[in-house]
Amino acid sequence: MNQASDPKPKRKASEGDGKRKDSDAPARSGRPYLPGDLTPAQTLARMIRVDQAGEYGARRIYEGQLAVLGRSPAAATIRKMHEQELAHLETFDRLVAERRVRPTLLQPVWHVAGFALGAATALLGEKAAMACTVAVEEVIDAHYAGQAERLGEDEAELKKTIEDFRADELEHRDIGLEHDAESAPAYPLLSGAIKAGSRLAIWLSERV
Ligand SMILES: [Fe+2]
Ligand SMILES: [Fe+2]
Repeated sequence: MNQASDPKPKRKASEGDGKRKDSDAPARSGRPYLPGDLTPAQTLARMIRVDQAGEYGARRIYEGQLAVLGRSPAAATIRKMHEQELAHLETFDRLVAERRVRPTLLQPVWHVAGFALGAATALLGEKAAMACTVAVEEVIDAHYAGQAERLGEDEAELKKTIEDFRADELEHRDIGLEHDAESAPAYPLLSGAIKAGSRLAIWLSERV
């Protein structure tokens, strides 16, 4: 019982050992809580890796939508969202390079899967394409909110970037809703499947 409160259990030396654990320092990004947790550097690398992958996937979804709906009334709206995704992606491409993060190995998968998702939903109609946007953006919103919460003052710039992008994604979600996403055929089913797929893609891209 009297060992239970030892603040520095010595299990499984994770990387970065040898340095004092500042377990009571406030607002540090990715501070590990438990032995075996990722180091702050590993946590940050994961964040940047998954965000770059996600923005890449978003770009491909809109490209798939535009391949089908490029001449539809919604085309200009979709094109604008696509342009914002390109800007998001450019930022994360830069961060991947600057911070020497290994990009996801799954990029070829997201290249195909993102486009296929965008094109397939667009083939079901404009509302289904918008339902896809709403579902993806809702997942991304929660994902970015979680990341922003875990970033401290030492990563203020990254945190600000993520919060700005999150605001754009919420705007995309709202655009989808304004375009009657919710009256797409089989909306709950479609939305649920896309959300599940998006969460799986996030989980994989953090790790692979
Ligand atoms: Fe984005
Ligand atoms: Fe977006």
